[in-house]
Amino acid sequence: MTKIAPGALATVEWRGKPVWVVRRTPEVLARLQTLRAELTDPDSQVSSQQPKYAANTVRSIRPETFVCVGLCTHLGCIPSFRPDPDSVQPGWPGGFYCPCHGSKFDLAGRVFKGSPAPINLLVPRYSFESDERLLIGRDSEGDAK
Ligand code: FES
Repeated sequence: MTKIAPGALATVEWRGKPVWVVRRTPEVLARLQTLRAELTDPDSQVSSQQPKYAANTVRSIRPETFVCVGLCTHLGCIPSFRPDPDSVQPGWPGGFYCPCHGSKFDLAGRVFKGSPAPINLLVPRYSFESDERLLIGRDSEGDAK
């Protein structure tokens, strides 16, 4: 995943859907640990939204690599990537902002309280074939349904 610059996002298509891969920096990872009180499901309790190996604070296998389906869990718009602090509103920690009805997600795809979206962004099954190669839709348990 070293081809993605630190802090940047790459979009790939998987089964007709956009899938985002974000290379998170140590600063982003530290900020994710401070947001808990503002989030609807900080611990990924809604099991439909990620495989077990991504049911953690950073919602990923490797902390620096975040993978999710880039569709809002409200009505399916594509949120915009707004990684810079304060870029959406004062105090904004960086994340994804849905322009359709204003849902907000952090850089682990966790939805902020008060958003129309009820649940976190979907993390698909994935695995690492090597340090450079990520396989979307397949893990040690097989292919995604
Ligand atoms: S579709 Fe994203 S907030 Fe409604």
